[in-house]
Amino acid sequence: MTPSDIRIRRAAPVDAPRMVEIMESNHHFYHPVVDGCESLARQMSMPHNVLLVAEIDGKVQGFVTGTWDGARAFLFKMSVDPTLQRQGIGTMLVKESARIFKGMGAVTVGLSAADGTGGEQNNAVGFWAKLGFELIPARLMIHFDMDELTEAKK
Ligand SMILES: CC(C)(COP(=O)(O)OP(=O)(O)OC[C@H]1O[C@@H](n2cnc3c(N)ncnc32)[C@H](O)[C@@H]1OP(=O)(O)O)[C@@H](O)C(=O)NCCC(=O)NCCS
Repeated sequence: MTPSDIRIRRAAPVDAPRMVEIMESNHHFYHPVVDGCESLARQMSMPHNVLLVAEIDGKVQGFVTGTWDGARAFLFKMSVDPTLQRQGIGTMLVKESARIFKGMGAVTVGLSAADGTGGEQNNAVGFWAKLGFELIPARLMIHFDMDELTEAKK
């Protein structure tokens, strides 16, 4: 396979089941409400989001999702079929998403990198580092109970 065999294009709702399959094969399909087909299709319909797929011989073999909030670009999910990793697909997806974000006005792009320390199977820090991404002293935090949060009193 050479880079000219890889076609990067915008994702369409019809790609969602294959995107889920790739996430599952990389053990980072975490929750259907967040990572499932309906969510992916909804993300694709929002104009500031950038969801790209990498196609080889007409089959989707990798994807990246991200967004531009008007000030920052952020990548959320990235996955390449395990049988085709380390062949440049991930690099092409990141570079094309960066090109699109730059066109939207972004001056930086951030992400939360899996590093295996949270019990997840993937450690992609080396991939991001090779592309020039730098670690910054920040921790990703999340609230899992929206009902509790929206009713919370001081
Ligand atoms: C991380 C991932 C998206 C990279 O995609 P890819 O197509 O394999 O990446 P590339 O082939 O463009 O890699 C470019 C370079 O990055 C580095 N690299 C790639 N994957 C790496 C990894 N898992 N760990 C360390 N370095 C890595 C290598 O130096 C590689 O170049 P080399 O193969 O010539 O040494 C892919 O491995 C993947 O889907 N992993 C499982 C899911 C995951 O971790 N997603 C990211 C969560 S933040």
